[in-house]
Parts: sequence; structure tokens; C-alpha cells
Amino acid sequence: MAAAANRRIRKAVFPVAGLGTRFLPATKTVPKEMLPIIDKPLIQYAVDEAIEAGCDTLVFITNRYKHAVADYFDKAYELEQKLERSGKQELLELVRNVLPSGVRAIFVTQHEALGLGHAVLCAKPVIGDEPFAVLLPDDLIWTRKGVSGALKQMADVAQSADASVIAVQDVAPEKTGSYGIVATEGFNGRTGRITAMVEKPDPAEAPSTLAVVGRYVLSPRIFELLEATTPGAGGEIQLTDAISALLREQVLAYRFQGTRFDCGTHIGLIEATIRYALDHEKLSDPARETMTRALAEMGVIDLD
Ligand code: UTP
Repeated sequence: MAAAANRRIRKAVFPVAGLGTRFLPATKTVPKEMLPIIDKPLIQYAVDEAIEAGCDTLVFITNRYKHAVADYFDKAYELEQKLERSGKQELLELVRNVLPSGVRAIFVTQHEALGLGHAVLCAKPVIGDEPFAVLLPDDLIWTRKGVSGALKQMADVAQSADASVIAVQDVAPEKTGSYGIVATEGFNGRTGRITAMVEKPDPAEAPSTLAVVGRYVLSPRIFELLEATTPGAGGEIQLTDAISALLREQVLAYRFQGTRFDCGTHIGLIEATIRYALDHEKLSDPARETMTRALAEMGVIDLD
């Protein structure tokens, strides 16, 4: 990262221009990123994580159907006035803090869904020549109270090692075909230098079971590499292909501390909802009771 040595990341890219077909029919009108876990949409969890990591410029790559994302981050004058007049200070703060002051949101349209790599490339004019973060909001990463968010952990590593950093987690061997899989030189604590990256390999061909998840800290050189990347499967420009070309520079795999939920799938969204409910100040007890009752009614557990 020669041009950007030891700099903190300030900009985060949120590619949210995918079609979200796995959540049809809901995603006919509600973007996948606006699906809530309890009372916050997925995108808000990712935004909060980026802000915690020190980002003050948030770049949303959207498409023409995703007005809801821009509307959500826009100021809601009427609603705020109503809450203010009725003295609902707590709710007012919640609405205002969707985007804290000092943080700006920029919306860039990806005219055609040409893949994640292409979506990231759309951010080039806003990012310029500095390291930046990419967060896929449907990968929701839960961390215990007192533990930094996954992106903050990665930003610290990226800054001290002056390297690009990619979040990874171990997956079951039979699942490698659903992920980008990395080969590494071996790990020193949570980090290991990536030597190869393969998109969705069959288990027999996978170099490891370390799967890439949706958090990246990238050198701006990725943009040149994306520009030179030819469309792969399905005519899409893959981020993985450009990262493979970036491996001549130092790219670290980082085993983050936390639990990742794949909220791009039905079961992932359910798991995340359960985890956040059980962790919630007011919902923990009723959620536990509801789950226990449901399992007992189905004969899965015996309460007697
Ligand atoms: P997914 O592979 O999850 O695709 O994209 P998708 O369209 O969102 O969902 P399904 O598979 O149809 O249900 C991974 C991430 O890349 C973004 C998506 O918004 C998501 O955050 N993406 C994908 C883009 O921004 N543009 C694209 O052209 C493709």
C-alpha cells in the first residue's frame, strides 16, 4: 500500500445494488438491506460498525430501485418535529443517530448489477487514493459487549501492518462451494498472509476451509485491478479475481472475533434475530420464554 502507508481508513463502501432474489417476494419493494433484526435494518448494523472503526464517509452503491436506503439515511423533518413536540426524546435521538453528525453519506448508482467487483469499482471516484473498507450488510457480525466490532479489529491490523485485510472464518468442508476460499502462509495469532484465493471451489479442490466473509480493508490499487478484470461466471466482475491480482502486495486474512450471520439466507436471518433477541435488554426473557414454549409445543423439549 505504498501510496497510503499506515493510514487509517475513513471511507467505507456498502455495495447494496444486488437484486436480493433469495428474499422475494419481500424484496420486490423492500431492499434486502432494509430487512430488520429487531428494530434496526441490516444496513444500520453495518453503518454502525463502520463508524465505530473510524469511518466518516459512507459510500452506498445502490440501484434505481433502492430509494428506501437513501430515504432511510435522509433527515426525516416531519417525524422529528412530531417526536420533539410530543417529548419523545429517546425516539428522537434514535431517529437522529441513524447517521451521527460529522458522518456523510454518498450514493452512487450501479446502473447494471454486473457483480460485486463492479459495484466496488463504482466507488472509485469517491475513494481516490487511500485505503478503504467494504462491508456487505447481509453479513452481520455480532460481537460481545466490550469487544470491538469486526471492522475496527481489521482497521487496527491494516494500519499497523500497512496491508489489505480480509475477514475470514472457518466453514464446514462441504460448504466451500458457497464461498471464496483462501490459502495462507500460516497464522500468527488471528492473521495470516494470503497466498491464493479461489472462488467457490469444490471441497476436493479447496485449498483450505477458510472462507472470505463480507468485510474487507483494501488498498486503492484494487481499482486498477478491477478495471483490468474481465467478467467471470454469469458475466459478473468478481471482487475475488481482483483480490487475487492484489496478492503481490501484502494481503492478510483475519480471523475476526465475533459471530457472523449470513442474513442473505433465510436461516441466517432467523439465527441473527434469535441471537440479538437473546442479547437484548428488554427482549431477552420474553424471547427465551417464547422459544422454550414453541420447542415444547413441538415436542422438541420436555418441560416436565
Ligand atoms: P449477493 O451475492 O448476496 O447477491 O451479493 P444479491 O443480489 O444481493 O442477493 P441474491 O443472491 O439475489 O439473494 C453480495 C453483495 O454484493 C452486492 C449485493 O447488494 C450484496 O451486498 N452486489 C452484488 C452489488 O452491489 N451489485 C451487484 O451487481 C451484485
